[in-house]
Amino acid sequence: MANYDEAQVPSYQLPDVLTCLDGTAVVDAQTWTDRRRGELLELFSEHVYGAVPAGGPIVDFEVVEEGVALEGRALRRQVVLRFGDSGPQMELLLFLPAGVSAPVPLFLGLNFWGNHSVHADSAIRLSTQWFRGEKDYIVDNRATEASRGTNSGQWDIEAVIARGYGLATAYYGDLDPDYDDGYANGIHPLFYRPGQTEPDENQWGAIGAWSWGLSRALDYCEGDEAIDDRRVAVLGHSRLGKTALWAGACDERFALVISNESGCGGAALSRRCYGETVERINRVFPHWFCTNFRRYSDRENELPIDQHMLIALAAPRPIYVASAVEDQWCDPRGEFLSALHADPVYRLLCDDGLPADAMPPIDVASMGRIGYHVRSGGHDVTELDWRYFLDFADRHLGSSGADDE
Ligand code: GCU
Repeated sequence: MANYDEAQVPSYQLPDVLTCLDGTAVVDAQTWTDRRRGELLELFSEHVYGAVPAGGPIVDFEVVEEGVALEGRALRRQVVLRFGDSGPQMELLLFLPAGVSAPVPLFLGLNFWGNHSVHADSAIRLSTQWFRGEKDYIVDNRATEASRGTNSGQWDIEAVIARGYGLATAYYGDLDPDYDDGYANGIHPLFYRPGQTEPDENQWGAIGAWSWGLSRALDYCEGDEAIDDRRVAVLGHSRLGKTALWAGACDERFALVISNESGCGGAALSRRCYGETVERINRVFPHWFCTNFRRYSDRENELPIDQHMLIALAAPRPIYVASAVEDQWCDPRGEFLSALHADPVYRLLCDDGLPADAMPPIDVASMGRIGYHVRSGGHDVTELDWRYFLDFADRHLGSSGADDE
């Protein structure tokens, strides 16, 4: 039974984000950048998400479709990313504001239900990949025409375009289908050593593979002249919020990071054991993290990190954490506390962080270099979430040039 009682949260001590493994206090930016950041990245990689193996396929990009979208307000572009000669492919869907000559800042995030689900636009290629679960519009784990636009409520593309940003998205199952298949069907085998049949205990699970895909999408963006690759925000909801946080930690080219209700293994502190726990997530989703993470099921205090350190790995880049009141499974308070406990790193590096020491009122955003809000309602991505993401991006990425941080 999940705990939803604040009084039952065990007492815990978080590992200090500003103390190196050998006890050295991090008192200047250089020690953070040269030592502590690398230590933390390594710890998350070894114990939580798993390391990306060396090597990997050559990635080839091909623009396969372009057209006018949103009644002329946007340009649609569809790009296939091929992983090696015979590996899986990832399809990237882009919407870019029409009539803009300067390169635009962009939001990049994976989607749950296929590119064709984020907007009803019939020119979006219908995914032929495997999908989780059965729905009216998913039959035998495949999307049907009826899937078009079914997830558009979570993608406020109109608002993104109206405010001068582009949006890029890909289906996460293109990288690794979200079920425990021993990693047979995604990109993992492309990285195996001769004779290797599954990732080592400290090698990546599905979240690692999904994050890797976000970086490959960013590689594509670097070559697309319509996009300002120095102003790409990575974002994600729920398991894909965990993924966005890890992508932002690993790849410092992402200029801004947004986590929406990412919960356990995302923004929420593991040691609070509130809502979803490490034990539960490892049991129900054994393919998400590296095998080493299972050692910490019911042993959160033994983790060498906690999730505030994942937030800190974005520093000094702006990071936004969004929760929802009715989404107690994600532990909104634990997500807020992660953001708060990452604040000292931001203060050290850029003298700005989270301008709050208590959770802000419901539906009100607190925005500094770290942003946070807890929305009314449940597990979802709503118009209000997008409004705050856009406000936060305006503040840090602006429409006229990169943040001068
Ligand atoms: C489950 C899971 C969460 C995850 C969520 C989602 O609820 O327990 O960890 O974030 O699915 O991705 O929607």
